[in-house]
Amino acid sequence: MAEEEQNRLIMGSTMVQLIGVIGILSCFAVVFTQAQLQTGFYDHSCPKAEKLIMQFVHEHIPNAPSLAAALLRMHFHDCFVRGCDASILLNVTSTNPSNSTERTSPPNLSVRGFDFIDRVKAIVEAECPGVVSCADIIALVARDSVVVTGGPSWSVPTGRRDGKISNATESLLNIPGPNFNFSRLTTSFANKGLNITDLVLLSGAHTIGIGHCTSFSNRLYNFTGVGDEDPLLDSEYAANLRKFKCTVPNDTVTFVEMDPGSFRTFDLDYYKLVLKRRGLFQSDAALTTDSNAKDFIVRLVNGPPSLFFKAFGHAMEKMGRVDLKTGTQGEIRKQCALTNN
Ligand code: HEM
Ligand SMILES: *[C@@H]1O[C@H](CO)[C@@H](O)[C@H](O)[C@H]1NC(C)=O
Ligand SMILES: *[C@@H]1O[C@H](CO)[C@@H](O)[C@H](O)[C@H]1NC(C)=O
Ligand SMILES: *[C@@H]1O[C@H](CO)[C@@H](O)[C@H](O)[C@H]1NC(C)=O
Ligand SMILES: *[C@@H]1O[C@H](CO)[C@@H](O)[C@H](O)[C@H]1NC(C)=O
Ligand SMILES: *[C@@H]1O[C@H](CO)[C@@H](O)[C@H](O)[C@H]1NC(C)=O
Ligand SMILES: *[C@@H]1O[C@H](CO)[C@@H](O)[C@H](O)[C@H]1NC(C)=O
Ligand SMILES: *[C@@H]1O[C@H](CO)[C@@H](O)[C@H](O)[C@H]1NC(C)=O
Ligand SMILES: *[C@@H]1O[C@H](CO)[C@@H](O)[C@H](O)[C@H]1NC(C)=O
Repeated sequence: MAEEEQNRLIMGSTMVQLIGVIGILSCFAVVFTQAQLQTGFYDHSCPKAEKLIMQFVHEHIPNAPSLAAALLRMHFHDCFVRGCDASILLNVTSTNPSNSTERTSPPNLSVRGFDFIDRVKAIVEAECPGVVSCADIIALVARDSVVVTGGPSWSVPTGRRDGKISNATESLLNIPGPNFNFSRLTTSFANKGLNITDLVLLSGAHTIGIGHCTSFSNRLYNFTGVGDEDPLLDSEYAANLRKFKCTVPNDTVTFVEMDPGSFRTFDLDYYKLVLKRRGLFQSDAALTTDSNAKDFIVRLVNGPPSLFFKAFGHAMEKMGRVDLKTGTQGEIRKQCALTNN
């Protein structure tokens, strides 16, 4: 009896210890799984990094203004494939597990600025070698590029780590296409933890930049296979595009400003165009096919630009957290186009 009692006591205290250990472990687990980005992550390890990046963007984008849009889009494409881990920057090399990388996948159309990122990386590496990830550089450059176009600034917490895998097929599977309808868009965004509010706000990025005719030719020439145009596209605008821009179906060279008149200025005009059925892609027009999304667009258009700006910044910060690698995951690449080994 006494022994049993003792056993029970020991068992009991073991249980208490076990529970304690589990408690401590689960605390660690919580800390570990919540390993998150931090504002000023490089404050001690590379205090000048963010400033050097910002200076480079402010100095060089004015000489190549079309890059601002390309660099913003690069961040989106990076985050939607394997998270924001700079996988979009990896080159095809003989040692890659995948012989065709994201940057060679068809959705890369007009994704540019790889050299720009390489130059920023070189400057940051000279300041503090092996410290600042390419993924953080993309996120910071995207934010600073928007600022240069007259758009909002937002907080870019850092501490992202670079991935080692890039796979062209995954790019095709994860990046929404210009022909997506509303339900496919919402599914694509929901897969990345982004909701309809985020979808509408982030699509506002189309206030800057261009689209190639191939991205919307079907809307002009043969929408349902009977030589028709997309009924969701303003027919006068469609006629103009056929006459002056995309004069033959599937012209792969010509491109069109997505927000004609202010395609280099970050403003509300994209949403105004979308409401006038002049959004360039089906995916832009699709935002008006859902009453909640459309109401939200109307509110953005009627509000002061600061309403859109602030909300866009929040949505960008949220997109910048998609499927992160932090802590000891991944690596800090030495060159953005190559994994370290
Ligand atoms: C909602 C789903 C989206 C679709 C279907 C989509 C599709 C596209 C397409 C097809 C192009 C033109 C590519 C070309 O023809 O050259 C484009 C351009 C662009 N996209 Fe999106 N996009 C989406 C969301 C976003 C998001 C979330 C961002 C950034 C936050 C973004 C930023 C841009 C920018 C800035 C450009 C212009 C690029 C340049 O001028 O080089 N897009 N997008
Ligand atoms: C990556 O590929 C691009 C385009 O082919 C090339 O210009 C660049 O030099 C390559 N970068 C590295 C580090 O190999
Ligand atoms: C690339 O991704 C596709 C789709 O997930 C997968 O089927 C394929 O095996 C991957 N390729 C490599 C080399 O991992
Ligand atoms: C890539 O790998 C696949 C599967 O191994 C192969 O079929 C294809 O030919 C390769 N492509 C190139 C460009 O090497
Ligand atoms: C983008 O993809 C196309 C089609 O796969 C490819 O021909 C082109 O070289 C790629 N562009 C870049 C910058 O890699
Ligand atoms: C959206 O597109 C998908 C794929 O083409 C289709 O299956 C679905 O029915 C479409 N949804 C609506 C609401 O049109
Ligand atoms: C989307 O998420 C944001 C927070 O990230 C929230 O403020 C917003 O209300 C959500 N929108 C919808 C439609 O759930
Ligand atoms: C439109 O598409 C249909 C079906 O793909 C094809 O049979 C027809 O020739 C096309 N018409 C034009 C004008 O391209
Ligand atoms: C244009 O490209 C689309 C998609 O690749 C294709 O379905 C269509 O037949 C092409 N049209 C012409 C006229 O080449």
